[in-house]
Amino acid sequence: MDSGCIGWLDEALTCARVQTRKAIDDLGNGFKPSHSTDNFYQPSGNDEWTNGMWTGEINIMYELTGDDFFKQKALEHVCSFKKRIDSLYCINNHDMGFLYSPSCVAAYKLYNSGTGKEAAVAAAGYLMSRFQEKGRFIQAWGPVGDRNNYRLIIDCLMNIPLLFWASSITGDPRYGRVAMAHFDTSINCVLRDDDSTFHTYYFDPDTGMPLYGVTHQGNRNDSAWSRGQAWGIYGSALAYRYTGSARALEVFNRTLDFFLRHLPASVIPYWDFDFSDGSSEPRDSSALAIAVCGMLEMADDLNDAGLRATAVSLCETLFKKCAVKDPSISNGQLLHGVYCRKTPTNDARNRGVDECNTWGDYFYVEALKRIISPGWRAYW
Ligand code: GLY
Repeated sequence: MDSGCIGWLDEALTCARVQTRKAIDDLGNGFKPSHSTDNFYQPSGNDEWTNGMWTGEINIMYELTGDDFFKQKALEHVCSFKKRIDSLYCINNHDMGFLYSPSCVAAYKLYNSGTGKEAAVAAAGYLMSRFQEKGRFIQAWGPVGDRNNYRLIIDCLMNIPLLFWASSITGDPRYGRVAMAHFDTSINCVLRDDDSTFHTYYFDPDTGMPLYGVTHQGNRNDSAWSRGQAWGIYGSALAYRYTGSARALEVFNRTLDFFLRHLPASVIPYWDFDFSDGSSEPRDSSALAIAVCGMLEMADDLNDAGLRATAVSLCETLFKKCAVKDPSISNGQLLHGVYCRKTPTNDARNRGVDECNTWGDYFYVEALKRIISPGWRAYW
């Protein structure tokens, strides 16, 4: 792993490799759970929305090192993901992209895994089954059609690339059509005039009319949840890559502009943009890692050196302030994330507050890979 001219990157890549290896040693055949406890992950099953990103971290480590140890481990995971979709085990939500893109699409792209391809196409099929014609969106949570769950969430912008991929791999344009319909509906609802975003948006199950935005993991309904804003940035960058849509580019620019304008002077965002310098609220490092990947994706697509330089500088800060550099303090990659934070004005519960989380670890190593290999195509 030779990073050429970026001084901090060699150390970052070395630390990242040590951390992935340590986590594999600690977890054995288990998966990382969604978040750490006191900065250490304990072995967990393949039963959350986050498992694909642990496999994705291993895949990126294979690409960075060429070490077959990582490839074998990732391929073991693919068998587990195939079983999971075949038995529909813990598959009652829209998180198919988070689960199957960094694991099974990646295994197909990297190792030509037929099992990976089959599992990912099956997961795309399941995601299609959650599309609601009334409202034209993919239902995020709960039984399909459930009146109390008739809503989309911004996070799903990271699930629809699986549909674009499925169209390209099967030749069936219906996946891509659903992806684009969901993208358009989402953006028409969640993007506010000030370029911040709602986390979730309800629809009338009888008429499909958009009703109102509500938060689940943000501070309050009208605030900008940092990670949701980051899902908007990266999700629109990926929609732009697949479709070249001018609307996707506009959404990328607007969501990114809001994100960058509201970063604190200390750079690492608080978990909601309601909070800034001087607040005692925790940060969410994962939000910055996601946004950096979206910026690097778009910088490649537009050949925009300025955007790339900004993203690299943000990633350097992430490395300096949040990356684990000593395996005795954590078996994760990125400290100071927040999964959910309970406040008087949301319906979340405290979970993974000021901890490592699986997706923060993944997007951080994805960012490192993107920085060392400009033009690299991610698994999404
Ligand atoms: N996609 C769920 C989350 O960001 O917490």
